[in-house]
Amino acid sequence: MRLWQTHAEYIEHKGVMANMSERTIGIAGAGTMGGGIAQLAATKGFRVILYDIHRDAVEKGMQRIAKSLDKTVQKGKLSSEERDAALSRIATTAELESLAGAETVIEAVIENMQVKKDLFQRLDRILPPGVVMATNTSSLSITEIAQATQRPDKVGGMHFFNPAPVMKLVEVVRGYHTSDESVDYLMNLARAFGKEPIEVKKDSPGFIVNRIMIPQFIEAIRLVEEGVATPEDIDKAVTLGLNYPMGPFTLQDFAGVDIGLHVMDYFYEEFKDSRFAAPMLLRQLVRAGRLGKKTGGGWYDYNE
Ligand code: 3HC
Repeated sequence: MRLWQTHAEYIEHKGVMANMSERTIGIAGAGTMGGGIAQLAATKGFRVILYDIHRDAVEKGMQRIAKSLDKTVQKGKLSSEERDAALSRIATTAELESLAGAETVIEAVIENMQVKKDLFQRLDRILPPGVVMATNTSSLSITEIAQATQRPDKVGGMHFFNPAPVMKLVEVVRGYHTSDESVDYLMNLARAFGKEPIEVKKDSPGFIVNRIMIPQFIEAIRLVEEGVATPEDIDKAVTLGLNYPMGPFTLQDFAGVDIGLHVMDYFYEEFKDSRFAAPMLLRQLVRAGRLGKKTGGGWYDYNE
């Protein structure tokens, strides 16, 4: 097998710069974020190989993508031909080895360090050594994930926001060993997806957006615990007073109440700082299985 020493060499070999339609992106994880990134890449003309560990998880992911593209067609933002073309550019697999031909792999599996490390270790054996790999982790250490590979200089963060096809920002995160070449590659890839990337120069928990968003969630929940206002009125205050599209409680339900708690616990552990201590009201909600829209209820009810 031919091994590429640098990413530039690999790109040159594939002729991908010359022919955009030949670019193939591997995505590991077909959940909300992986599926959203797959939908985005396919509508921008990339071929996508979408991987998940179970066949039915990939199929469910594809169904969500098809449904989301249908909505975009109904809104008149995409023609039915463009939708069909985008869907035809996505290949699905439950075999990680199928990602071998991709120019890069973006990992979007569950936020569990051990799961991510195992996956990167396997990807490191499957992908040619010049290939850059990215993780969509929202807060975990890029440096630690990269250490699971023999190419930590070619691992970086590529943090998308939900819904990935819509949200303009991508945080490109530099791990301790990430090379300038790898950062440039990920910044350019984000631009090719039609996004506005920013470089996060240091691997710090939560990067920028979550570092700002999580304390806002904590303060909003404390206001409820202190009886200062209801979630409804706090959401109204933030949407009307700050012009945010969603208030903190609606946003937690949308993104997953459990995800917010997980990030708080991670911050608390990493920074050893009580300002990130998760409010008990939130922990109880998660223990009760009220995880947001995905379970039919979180801070609000969605059953009707
Ligand atoms: N695929 C493609 N397009 C989509 C879409 C999807 N999955 N979801 C929404 N859209 C499009 C709609 O078609 C619509 O397009 P148009 O304006 O051209 O008609 C546009 O997005 C707006 O959607 P809607 O009209 O249906 O609804 P809203 O105007 O209420 O917008 C929203 C929905 C974009 C989700 C908006 O409420 C919003 O921006 N909310 C805040 C989201 C946010 O903060 N996300 C970040 C979460 S934190 C995160 O992801 C980090 C993680 O690490 C935790």
